[in-house]
Amino acid sequence: MEKPQLPAALKFVEQIRALYIQNLDTDILWDKIRFAMGPLLADKELKKSSKTWPLTVEGVPKVKNLLFYEDPDFGFVFNATVRKANSVTSVHDHGDVWTLYGLIEGHETMYRYSRIDEAPKDVGPAKLKQVGCHSLGPGDVDSVPPGDIHQEHGGAENSMAFIVRAQKAGTFKQRTYNLETGEIKLNDGPILIPHALSAV
Ligand SMILES: [Fe+2]
Repeated sequence: MEKPQLPAALKFVEQIRALYIQNLDTDILWDKIRFAMGPLLADKELKKSSKTWPLTVEGVPKVKNLLFYEDPDFGFVFNATVRKANSVTSVHDHGDVWTLYGLIEGHETMYRYSRIDEAPKDVGPAKLKQVGCHSLGPGDVDSVPPGDIHQEHGGAENSMAFIVRAQKAGTFKQRTYNLETGEIKLNDGPILIPHALSAV
């Protein structure tokens, strides 16, 4: 897959590749990637481009992601979402891989959950407890470590986010959780829509 044409995104690819080469601890690696994401989220060309992206998240169960890039050596990917105003996702995780979710425009609220049962990870029944709730605005990055359970709530207007994942959706299983019954469903994550990321 070709590298993104948009200069700030291309620079971000090279920064991430330079970090991977250092063989850092995973937590440190993703903390550094998060730090490097700041200038990209503030980039005028990225903001302009994001206004042309199609709606990808309309709420349960219609979740898609734009796919901009997959790194041939390290496997990380660049995705994006355009979330419909006031939409609410399922309670879910992003599988056992890292995700960084950076807001470009709009506002969202992230609810966080923790499992308080001892049942098998992929089977359940899961008993969940809400452990957090925080708001995101333009330029904020939500770090989602492997297995972290959460739910995204769209704000008053559509919101756009740039996403870095350690692996492409579909190459690992993600989980959705039913808060009432504790049922866990495994799935392949969002449907991917290849999309060129270039300046408009
Ligand atoms: Fe999520």
